[in-house]
Amino acid sequence: MTADILTTRHPFLDGKPKRMLIDGKWVEAASGKTFETINPSTGEILAAVAEGDAEDIDRAVAAARRAFQGPWSKFKPFERQALLLRLADLVEQHFDELAALDTLDMGAPIGRTRASRLRALGMLRYYAGQAVSILGETIENSLPGEYVSFTLKEPVGVVGAIIPWNSPLTATIWKIGPALATGCTVVLKPAEEAPLTPLRVAELCQEAGIPPGVVNVVPGYGETAGAALARHPDVDKVAFTGSHLTGQKIVEASAGNLKRVSLELGGKSPDVVFADADLETAVPGAGMAVFANSGQICSAGTRLFVERKIYDEFTARVASFGKTLRVGDSRDPETQVGPLVSAEQLDRVTGYLAIGRQEGARPLSGGERLTEGEMAKGYFVPPTVFADVKDEMRIAKEEIFGPVISAIPFTDIEEVIERSNRTHYGLGSGVWTRDVSKAHKLARGIRAGSVWINCYQAMDPAVPFGGYKMSGYGRESGKQHVEEYLNVKSVWIKTG
Ligand code: NAI
Ligand code: MG
Repeated sequence: MTADILTTRHPFLDGKPKRMLIDGKWVEAASGKTFETINPSTGEILAAVAEGDAEDIDRAVAAARRAFQGPWSKFKPFERQALLLRLADLVEQHFDELAALDTLDMGAPIGRTRASRLRALGMLRYYAGQAVSILGETIENSLPGEYVSFTLKEPVGVVGAIIPWNSPLTATIWKIGPALATGCTVVLKPAEEAPLTPLRVAELCQEAGIPPGVVNVVPGYGETAGAALARHPDVDKVAFTGSHLTGQKIVEASAGNLKRVSLELGGKSPDVVFADADLETAVPGAGMAVFANSGQICSAGTRLFVERKIYDEFTARVASFGKTLRVGDSRDPETQVGPLVSAEQLDRVTGYLAIGRQEGARPLSGGERLTEGEMAKGYFVPPTVFADVKDEMRIAKEEIFGPVISAIPFTDIEEVIERSNRTHYGLGSGVWTRDVSKAHKLARGIRAGSVWINCYQAMDPAVPFGGYKMSGYGRESGKQHVEEYLNVKSVWIKTG
């Protein structure tokens, strides 16, 4: 069995069209339509998947509403905690199979998806802890007479969760976890490029004993199923992760019933390397800040600012580091850089490679799609470092979402802070230095939701993550995340 999980003999790929989960039942789309999902390493079709649309979203939202008002509302914190812990145990038990599905469906190297174990399980168990840690406050008031005032924290209700394809397993957990912790119900719309892992997690939710209607999963396209969920009048909150353009549409669609929205969007994150840094760690650190997951990470450190006196040496070393990474089929345990998720994403990234050259940037490594042998069937772009990049170039301003570094020289600290912030985005950022005062100055000066010093992309279930500016609002992970799924109710009692 284990050898087969990286093939179309994976137990979840049984040749039958995958259905959607609504109200505890696996059903076809109302339209009967399906769409295909492929392995981006090979172009091979993995499965046909029910293609949800507005009607299916309606059914799922109705089920989520019934569950929210029905038995689920009676679940005690301990019971919700127990469900989350049971789900965590099931995810642990089936972890290799889930990692393999992520690898097959979206192309992340199997070494990477297997390494997400701690994160996936850690998140579920963290939210299990949060389920029993929801606290209101007793507040002293100054009214004349005798009044007691306190707050209750209540679940916001039906949550529409819309996720991207770049890390399906953990993205699913990142939405379902806080909903279960707080007593909300969810309609999850996976990305059309990678719907399989969310559907398998939904099976495990059932196995864990999560009641019907609490977790519903409706695969389908963004413009149809996603848009229907975002505008649905009976959805109380949308939790969205994806591009800022879609984020803007979600905000517009939310206006109809003024539903709550949280947005985790893209970035063009600065990664700043000072000449005094430990270059032995900064070279691979800055490289993997972009090459990991083929650059398909929202907080990738794609604007690499390097202090001028080490610019040539450092960029050459990052380019050489990139060349040592093994690019190939994501199922090969030796692979470090897999394919891009889709033909569309390949076009987008190779389009930017051409734009970079036209703008006068100089590729030190990579720069072209790989088509040798078997690679021609997949969507492979090697780690690429562009030197001589200027702030005004499109490759320095726009999110590419591929393994492409735009390396830019700088001379002093005030200047690099100002230039780091000259972007509409504000998600991640990195600083490499041995000087603690420089590190502090940048930690405060950079307008972004995360600052990583002498590391990049460190994440923990207890530490909030999210954006400034057009990288979105709201936080995921940490106590802040749970608050996003709660309403505050003030209660007054006249006691005198
Ligand atoms: P997208 O933002 O369009 O898709 C993300 C999710 O939103 C998917 O589930 C999609 O079906 C859904 N969606 C699309 N249009 C929608 C609509 N009108 N209403 C509701 N839901 C909708 O991103 P896409 O097309 O996959 O990738 C395009 C670019 O977006 C990438 O090249 C990258 O730059 C950026 N991106 C950023 C991500 C992040 O983690 N911040 C993740 C994915 C993409
Ligand atoms: Mg796919």
